[in-house]
Amino acid sequence: MNDTLDITINKAAQSKLTVTDFSQLPFGKVFSDHMFIAEYDNETWSNLQILPFGPIPMSPAISALHYGQAIFEGMKAYRQADGKISVFRPEKNLERFNKSAARMSMPAITTEIFMQGIAALIEIDEKWVPAQEGYSLYIRPVMFATDPYLGVRASDTYTFALLTTPTGPYYSKALKVKIETEFTRADEGGVGFAKTAGNYARSLHPFAEAQKEGFDQLIWTDAVSHEYIEEAGTANLIFVIDGKLVTPSVRSTVLDGITRDTIIQLATKAGIEVEERRVSVKEVIEGIENGRLTDAFAAGTAATVTPIGEISYLGKLYTLTNPETRTISRDIAKTLNDIRYGLAPDEFGWNW
Ligand code: COI
Repeated sequence: MNDTLDITINKAAQSKLTVTDFSQLPFGKVFSDHMFIAEYDNETWSNLQILPFGPIPMSPAISALHYGQAIFEGMKAYRQADGKISVFRPEKNLERFNKSAARMSMPAITTEIFMQGIAALIEIDEKWVPAQEGYSLYIRPVMFATDPYLGVRASDTYTFALLTTPTGPYYSKALKVKIETEFTRADEGGVGFAKTAGNYARSLHPFAEAQKEGFDQLIWTDAVSHEYIEEAGTANLIFVIDGKLVTPSVRSTVLDGITRDTIIQLATKAGIEVEERRVSVKEVIEGIENGRLTDAFAAGTAATVTPIGEISYLGKLYTLTNPETRTISRDIAKTLNDIRYGLAPDEFGWNW
């Protein structure tokens, strides 16, 4: 990191810590006392502030609301065994944030603002990092276009913000998922690889329809043939077939997941063969039927490592192996958590 930035700090008059029940932390509902903000104008980021979490005044004409120039990230800060706090691989989130920004014709955020903003915010809200096993402080960077102008063009002004929310895992049980063959999440040449608001917006209707049928999540397939598995929208997908870790390769339609990448590195180190390639629906369904597919899980920052229990395809429900018996994902998830919580050596240098 270079020079220390000038961040104006305006502390909350009263902390919400005393009225927050840390045993009830649904994902993304409880926010810590402060947020970090920076503003972009004249091709420069300025006005760096930490202020009480709360509404940001804005014009109803801002282009983020009309044309969707909005991107975000997700990462977590962990309370380590020795009480210190570490953020898991934030430089990867910064890299992906700026890739999303470039695709959405938005400015890059600087390394200094991103990293020092996180450090300053966590320092001030240090007590909001939960200590319970499986819990962490989820950090949500977001950038949105703020020109109050209805012409269709990239905005000249933006707001960058960092919000934090103490949380447990996004999912609390093995997932019942549906392979989606009607709607699509992303197409070649589009923005599927970017963490941009519209990717999530377009998934909401198909997701709501699937929820009505009793599903927890969708498995998205490619937009051309619906024959290849892509990702789950809130997480990447990893399968164990013939003892190998098999995961759809990242491409313009698939998010380059940091948890996915971390798991690939841990599995490789543990001597498990990893295949990153196109994965057909046929291979997965046949694998469930003939017993060659022994594990399937969603992998993401919010989702962590969540087993998939049942998969529906074209109206037929397939039950996978009992999640309790799946040693590969269980062992990888344990190693990953031990590193994050400082219970195992951080050989890859992932904790910041
Ligand atoms: C994350 O895992 O951080 C995500 O952004 C997924 C979120 C949309 C639930």
